[in-house]
Amino acid sequence: MGNNAHFEPPRGMRDFYPEAVAARNALFDAWTQSSRLFGFSQYDACVVESLELLKRKRGDEIVEQIYAFKDKSNRDLALRPEMTPTLARLIAARQGQLAFPLKWFAIAQCFRYERMSRGRKREHYQWNLDVVGETALAAEVEVLACAAHALRELGLGSGDYKIHINSRALLADLLTHSGVAPAFHPATFLALDKRGKQEDADTLRALKAAALDDNAIAAVFRIMGLQSLEEVRQLFGGEQPALTALQTLFQLLAEYGLGDIAWFDIGIVRGLDYYTGIVFEAFDAERQFRAIFGGGRYDNLLSDLGGAPMTAVGLGFGDVVIAELLAEKGRLVAQQTKLDYAIGYMDDSQRSAALRLAQAIRRTGQSVDVALHAEKPKQFFARAGKGAFQKAIYVGPDDVARGTVRIKNLDERTEEERSLTELLG
Ligand code: HAM
Repeated sequence: MGNNAHFEPPRGMRDFYPEAVAARNALFDAWTQSSRLFGFSQYDACVVESLELLKRKRGDEIVEQIYAFKDKSNRDLALRPEMTPTLARLIAARQGQLAFPLKWFAIAQCFRYERMSRGRKREHYQWNLDVVGETALAAEVEVLACAAHALRELGLGSGDYKIHINSRALLADLLTHSGVAPAFHPATFLALDKRGKQEDADTLRALKAAALDDNAIAAVFRIMGLQSLEEVRQLFGGEQPALTALQTLFQLLAEYGLGDIAWFDIGIVRGLDYYTGIVFEAFDAERQFRAIFGGGRYDNLLSDLGGAPMTAVGLGFGDVVIAELLAEKGRLVAQQTKLDYAIGYMDDSQRSAALRLAQAIRRTGQSVDVALHAEKPKQFFARAGKGAFQKAIYVGPDDVARGTVRIKNLDERTEEERSLTELLG
């Protein structure tokens, strides 16, 4: 590159100019407020993790997408693609001291080398809500209700999105019941997770690659055609524990006022291999976008990462899809708040008065942008009048001599004269 090199962020990475940070903060505020209202405590952790922690099983798509590198001491490190292994690491390290069940949340920047598409970047912020150490289905309801609350705060209700719910335990039982042995389940789940995004022929190819025979593949497609819990019951020929759990979950969700948002959807499998129980994803009602959030119950991650066995349930809710959805609905939350005051002055002999005034106003908790150099009134008011300030004070030689300043209210176009000594307190 020559001297005129023009740099852009690496593909898939984002810059945040002030308006974008304002929009992002509004989203983070909705996430944080909802977490607090539901009693979740915030945690955080390092973005760089050891590659070993994140790798888990081969074949898991997220492992293929990891940004990995070696540090100068040849350690294998990586940028986290998700927060859940890190959460498990934190909990395993203090499992003896922590009080369970615990409810934790985080807003974590995550990195995945993904094929870019609408709603998918190579870096995103993800709100994580997890309940650790609670077997009751109330834990699932809690994280779902908290996410629904945040969506309502952002202006989205039951007409705008649906939470699609399934159970990996149910899927496993259906597969076994239909003659597909448990050894084939993990590969089958991974093949099925991509089903919504690809042709049936591709799913067929993936199932064949997972060594399923023709009968097993036919069974898988039959199961994927199930439309309701009643059809599931008929296939089993009666009640069954994973089915009962799902029915109970829907009852609990209805009691929480979420009955009209939650649907049974046999097609929800999830792409991460650690889920063992209930799994869910939220989609916009028209299904134009990828998942708004996704999660479920995972029973073995803590023990897989060196902790004592402990169940957990949680979800991840990214900043990209929700921003696109809100923009489409015209409910963008971006709002830059105005500063309280702009203060300008005519020449350097008024600078000290202007600066003291700025300090006094800031001590009252109001924001002030004070001029960085002397300027003519015309320039100052042109600058201050562009909409970024509520009030403006211009200090000239006469004002200092008289000991007063005029405070212009820029919105109301009114003016008030105040004593400098009084303002300076
Ligand atoms: P996930 O489904 O891989 O789950 O991601 C959760 C959410 O993060 C997605 O629904 C989406 O909003 C957002 N997301 C993921 N990848 C991208 C991307 N490349 N660009 C933009 N947004 C993205 C997990 O990560 C689990 N760890 C969630 C979890 C927490 N399960 C239990 N606890």
